[in-house]
Amino acid sequence: MIGIFDSGLGGLSVLAAIARALPQADLVYFADTAHVPYGSRSDEFIRSRVLAIGGHLAAMRCDVIVVACNTATAAAVSALRSQHADIPIVGVEPGVKPAVAASKSRHIAVLATESTARSERLARLIRDHADSVNVHIEPCPGWATRVERLHLDDPVFMAEAAAKILPLLERGIDQLVLGCTHYSFLAPVLKPLLSSRAELVDVADAVAQQVSRLAMRPNAGDARLLLFASANAEDLQAALPRLGLDWLTPRIAHPAQNLVL
Ligand code: DGL
Repeated sequence: MIGIFDSGLGGLSVLAAIARALPQADLVYFADTAHVPYGSRSDEFIRSRVLAIGGHLAAMRCDVIVVACNTATAAAVSALRSQHADIPIVGVEPGVKPAVAASKSRHIAVLATESTARSERLARLIRDHADSVNVHIEPCPGWATRVERLHLDDPVFMAEAAAKILPLLERGIDQLVLGCTHYSFLAPVLKPLLSSRAELVDVADAVAQQVSRLAMRPNAGDARLLLFASANAEDLQAALPRLGLDWLTPRIAHPAQNLVL
């Protein structure tokens, strides 16, 4: 079984990529909806949540744990790995490397939560892989909450997104990195703003490949999906069709459950 978690709905974009890559695998997803968004929280708070949730997935005997959240990865994947050295733990980091590889203009931008934007881990990623490139880091407060509320394409957001993206295009970016798993669900609004001037970079498929490399028997299972949330579990399940993930519904083994960790 593969354990996947996030602060809320965002990690479902990673779960969907894993389910596409490993159609038989059993998946368990935990959404920490009682504490979303993580992006405005302290590192200590995020670390305590990651250790509690990761510990629970380890106790469920998951073969691999996926921290399907850039914010949680930046703040706490090292702490989780040191507590569970026996389980492969896959984190999610903004796709700076693929963006640098693809960039011709040598300007890229990373959209991220406030926490990821100021993290040492992102600074190191950029130092290590993007020293010849101009990286514009753009914190996007409120965007993850917008996805949680399923306010995906209202006119207010379209204007806000344009105000964020158009100046980046003026500065010459040709790669726009989605540095928060929630933002994958905003792609239908973001993509048209780019026209053909820049590409969106989402690492969900690369994360799924990494999971299939690390799992012992990656595609073994009965294609079951278990959904848990720390609050309003029924909303987690109900969100699937709204996020274009209705195809996952037949895999759900029993209705999503609340689980306080
Ligand atoms: N989905 C998360 C990420 O990838 C966090 C969003 C949030 O809770 O602020 O960063």
